[in-house]
Amino acid sequence: PPPALVDRFGRRVNYLRISITDRCDFRCVYCMSEDMQFLPRNQVLTLEEIQQIAQAFVALGVDKIRITGGEPLIRRGVTGLFRGLGSLPGLEELTLTTNGSQLARHAPALRAAGVRRINISLDSLRPERFRRITRVGDLQRVLDGIEAAREAGMERVKINSVILKGRNEDEIIDLVDFCRDRGMDISFIEEMPLGVNPDHDRAEVFYSSDRVRSDIEAHYPLIPTTESTGGPSRYFRLGDGPTRVGFISPHSHNFCGDCNRVRLTAEGRLLLCLGQEHSVDLRRVVREHPGDSRALTQAIIDAMQIKPQGHAFDLSVKPVILRHMSVTGG
Ligand code: GTP
Ligand code: 5AD
Ligand code: SF4
Repeated sequence: PPPALVDRFGRRVNYLRISITDRCDFRCVYCMSEDMQFLPRNQVLTLEEIQQIAQAFVALGVDKIRITGGEPLIRRGVTGLFRGLGSLPGLEELTLTTNGSQLARHAPALRAAGVRRINISLDSLRPERFRRITRVGDLQRVLDGIEAAREAGMERVKINSVILKGRNEDEIIDLVDFCRDRGMDISFIEEMPLGVNPDHDRAEVFYSSDRVRSDIEAHYPLIPTTESTGGPSRYFRLGDGPTRVGFISPHSHNFCGDCNRVRLTAEGRLLLCLGQEHSVDLRRVVREHPGDSRALTQAIIDAMQIKPQGHAFDLSVKPVILRHMSVTGG
């Protein structure tokens, strides 16, 4: 049988999330501070290094890779990376999470590289508001990107919405209808406290998944399913249509018990949990042992021993994790 990555708690790791850049053309209030300092280029993995690390993971039984950022589609050469990853034997699913701003020009190439599912962030359908949440984003470009993904023949397009009280909670039904009209899925996400962000009070804007769910149920029946995409979403069917509504609820419904994923940050740190700092420096390993996959493979196997049991986010204290979400792409 192929080798497998298993941690101390018996959890099998088959899902790698790779952040290919910490940079982004947006500045979402829950993700970044207004004056973000980005990594100098020599600290960021090259595309070749990313390919090499991904290959080692796939050889160890990882069958799902999600590319994130920052915004992955602003990295130069990104379509070549997708082609390279898409040709790894044993990889069943190659996906990405994007803010959609560059999707109109990239969607056909992504589809050609084998991407069948794509997650796009969208927190508001009102241009002014969209701009306030993303600080700089242009809603129309994202809407065009969503259309382009559909036209390129993606099998599933999922919208991610972070719901914030007083910011966009009154748009929950509009967002559901937007997806329902297009046969797309939608996941509602509770904001996680990563990074210090002085102009944004997380406890004040917290809006729980249970509230989102009851807001939706006032309009549509939500039918529980056991479907999973391999991520933390709990899914419901919206009435009898194709749309699935997911809830990612790190605060109200902890899902660490069946965590199957690890993350590679843009600077090559293998991060074993989103809400903890346990990590291994794979950039050092690949740079010290160029072309030698054995050292890398061993470092990955050893890393499983320090994967923590889970995270314990607390909105009432200052964030414990100082790294911003943009370093890991969620
Ligand atoms: P699929 O299930 O494959 O569609 O992916 P996903 O929903 O897990 O991925 P996506 O990149 O769209 O992320 C959506 C949200 O889930 C983001 O806010 C992530 O931070 C969050 N998320 C994904 N994995 C974890 C995890 O292990 N822990 C926590 N706390 N949040 C996670
Ligand atoms: N909490 C929860 N989700 C977040 N995202 C970004 N920052 C946060 C946060 N602090 C979401 C984005 C995107 C996904 C990858 O993570 O909206 O949809
Ligand atoms: Fe960029 Fe996504 Fe962070 Fe928004 S949430 S600033 S789009 S990386």
